[in-house]
Amino acid sequence: MKKGSFVSVADLSKEDILRLIRKTAEFEENPNRTVLEGKICATLFFEPSTRTRLSFETAVNRLGGRVIGFSDAATTSSSKGETLKDTVKMVGNYADLIIMRHYLEGAARYASEIADVPVINAGDGANQHPSQTMLDLYSIHKTQGTLEDLTVTMVGDLKYGRTIHSLIVGMSHFRPSFRFIAPDELRLPETYRQFMDNHGLRYEEFTEFSEDVINESDILYMTRVQRERFTDLMEYEKVKNVYTLHSDMLTGSRDNLRILHPLPRVNEIMYDVDDSPKAYYFEQAKNGVYARQAIICDALKL
Ligand code: CP
Repeated sequence: MKKGSFVSVADLSKEDILRLIRKTAEFEENPNRTVLEGKICATLFFEPSTRTRLSFETAVNRLGGRVIGFSDAATTSSSKGETLKDTVKMVGNYADLIIMRHYLEGAARYASEIADVPVINAGDGANQHPSQTMLDLYSIHKTQGTLEDLTVTMVGDLKYGRTIHSLIVGMSHFRPSFRFIAPDELRLPETYRQFMDNHGLRYEEFTEFSEDVINESDILYMTRVQRERFTDLMEYEKVKNVYTLHSDMLTGSRDNLRILHPLPRVNEIMYDVDDSPKAYYFEQAKNGVYARQAIICDALKL
């Protein structure tokens, strides 16, 4: 793997995570710098994105670098049959850093093994979304004052939600107590349950989205059902509106509760929740710029 690549949260130690959080706070304090002057960053998005691509590009621009890339692979030579290997090799000749989102699990790891420049994983299929995890951890730390000993409830598509998978690994260093709420069809995969068992982490699973669970949570992490990952759309139709958070469900919740969502939302959070001081998802997305500034500088050893 090319040195500096940022592919999986599993590659980060607790110290790495805390160092990146400190660096993120520095960028929040002062986001406009010129440390990337003369550097070119390529954003290769083989899947749609709003927040991840635009916040990475904002991060590069605020640091004085330049961006090349694409947001729609249909306009590139991959639509003519060019392989991922050739695309990555070639872009590595043009740019100092590759930021890539791809629909195949493991694509970022593969790219990092063939590229001559560091690769940042901006999401690979249902596998990992490590830069999202860094902004999630930053948001949790900022709102709770700590990452240690928190009760984190994750709701929705725990099967395909890559932000869930990454966040479990990221939080594993900090003695979390997890609550997972999902229908049977979208239950957390066995590999992550195994991971938590191996790390001695506490967790409980539920199919009902009840106020009892919300009331004992510090973080309520809502997710969208990932329509694009279903091979059978009839299956998606059965679960697409499985859980919706309404403001009246927050009446008995802890004062420190914060509601996170990686966004985009579809029907998981009613608009009346947006007015609650416990709704943090838009600030969370804003934190993405600072977290990604920290990740980019780390990757380039700046
Ligand atoms: N959170 C997230 O990955 O959003 P986008 O798909 O808009 O990048």
